[in-house]
Amino acid sequence: MNFSSSLQGQHVVVVGGTSGIGRAVVRAAQTAGAKVTALGRGSGIACDVTDPDSVNQAFARLGPVDHLVITAGARVGSPSLAQLTDAELALTYEVKLFGALRAIRFALPKLAPQASVTLTSGLLSRKPSAGGLLKGSVNAAIEAAARQLAKELAPRRVNVVSPGVVDTELWSGSTREATLARIGAGLPVGRVGLPHELAQAYVLAMANGFMTGAVIDVDGGGLL
Ligand SMILES: NC(=O)c1ccc[n+]([C@@H]2O[C@H](COP(=O)([O-])OP(=O)(O)OC[C@H]3O[C@@H](n4cnc5c(N)ncnc54)[C@H](OP(=O)(O)O)[C@@H]3O)[C@@H](O)[C@H]2O)c1
Repeated sequence: MNFSSSLQGQHVVVVGGTSGIGRAVVRAAQTAGAKVTALGRGSGIACDVTDPDSVNQAFARLGPVDHLVITAGARVGSPSLAQLTDAELALTYEVKLFGALRAIRFALPKLAPQASVTLTSGLLSRKPSAGGLLKGSVNAAIEAAARQLAKELAPRRVNVVSPGVVDTELWSGSTREATLARIGAGLPVGRVGLPHELAQAYVLAMANGFMTGAVIDVDGGGLL
């Protein structure tokens, strides 16, 4: 596949395209020849996925969509069940799961039969750990939802990219560098991921017309 022109002339919408992995997807899709619309609370066309009116209004302003990518996620910690607050629980699911389903629902009239949807989960979906409940469960729900939608929305294709630890703005605080270095040292590849390395997987999911219902793991071997 010629990646430099694999999305030539296509309209790609990235919900969560204002930061981190989503912003890298915007750049990679543009490089592959696409016309790209980045959506988020801080984008030109504002879109807060927790607000149905906001999502509806954002998609109402767009023309036909060839590829919908959703990377939006709230920046939440890794609380144990005993420490988990209702607010953290609600925010995590409102943005990542309910927000993604909302975005797909409002995009649906604009998605042609040959269109694709690419969602974002995360390695914790299949790697249980103490403190992994919040992210692990929402990411597992994303993967389950995508498999259902790959059947329900067919022949539109629906896939998931599952990142491992990636160096984005999601990681903050004074110990950021040390934390990423420590996690990276524990991975088979010896380092954490970079946003553009994830973006390649989203371009693959968009451009490969035979791929649907797949979860693409890009995690440096973190699942092993
Ligand atoms: N980085 C990692 O290590 C890692 C690992 C596993 C999984 N992931 C997953 O990968 C995805 C991207 O993560 P990232 O590292 O790129 O995070 P990030 O830099 O924090 O980006 C998150 C994006 O989500 C958008 N967003 C947040 N709340 C929103 C809302 N209510 N409505 C619309 N957009 C909203 C933000 O845009 P606005 O602020 O403009 O709204 C931003 O563009 C997330 O789903 C995350 O869970 C990341």
